[in-house]
Amino acid sequence: PAIAAIVPAAGVGKRMQADRPKQYLVLHGKTILEHSVARLQSVAGVEQIWLALAADDPYFDATALSHSNVIRVKGGDERMHSVLSALNFVDEHQYPWVLVHDAARPLVRQTDIELLIQRCLARGEGGILACRVRDTMKRGELMVAETVSREHLWHALTPQFFPTALLKAALHDAISAGVHITDEASAMEWAGHSVLLVEGHSDNIKITQPADLALAAFYLEQSS
Ligand code: C5P
Repeated sequence: PAIAAIVPAAGVGKRMQADRPKQYLVLHGKTILEHSVARLQSVAGVEQIWLALAADDPYFDATALSHSNVIRVKGGDERMHSVLSALNFVDEHQYPWVLVHDAARPLVRQTDIELLIQRCLARGEGGILACRVRDTMKRGELMVAETVSREHLWHALTPQFFPTALLKAALHDAISAGVHITDEASAMEWAGHSVLLVEGHSDNIKITQPADLALAAFYLEQSS
């Protein structure tokens, strides 16, 4: 099927302590946002890309993307609002499936995106890229209340891939109900849908802190 992709890129990236939002920091001559979009564009079937940008974004016009066929929409206060605002423009008949990918994940592998799409379409269910937790996990505040077995724990990555109509309804309903969600899968789970875990590579990091940039540069060099 034809696939639409949504890239929430309306965040300010406070934790990066940089002079601009992290998606506009440069890595190997291109902004992080351009890397992330290029990875999506490399996947067959991805026909339309929607970018949710901050209303007063002064950086986008200086990128090569401003001359491309990506479509910009106004983002919202939180990630979930940015995703829903883009999703509301996506025609679910023309694009029955949608990929959502963080602007801040420039290293996702094309083959991992393809694996996610293939697994989900084969089962007819939505899913996410995820990788296994490697550290021992504790629950608590100040003191350990318990050790949580890491055996069945995963880090949720992006892209996340869902039937467009179901995701639209789930996000809309979760937001209306005041549920706080930090990824699309949370809304789908809340709405009672099953979500497939597809194991991806852990180098698909989300650029969050200053050291992540150096790590991303290292991974890029390794793969080129
Ligand atoms: O802050 P965090 O790293 O969780 O952001 C994940 C993604 O969501 C980033 O690509 C960021 O630009 C985006 N975002 C957004 N709208 C917001 C907040 C974050 O599109 N209001």
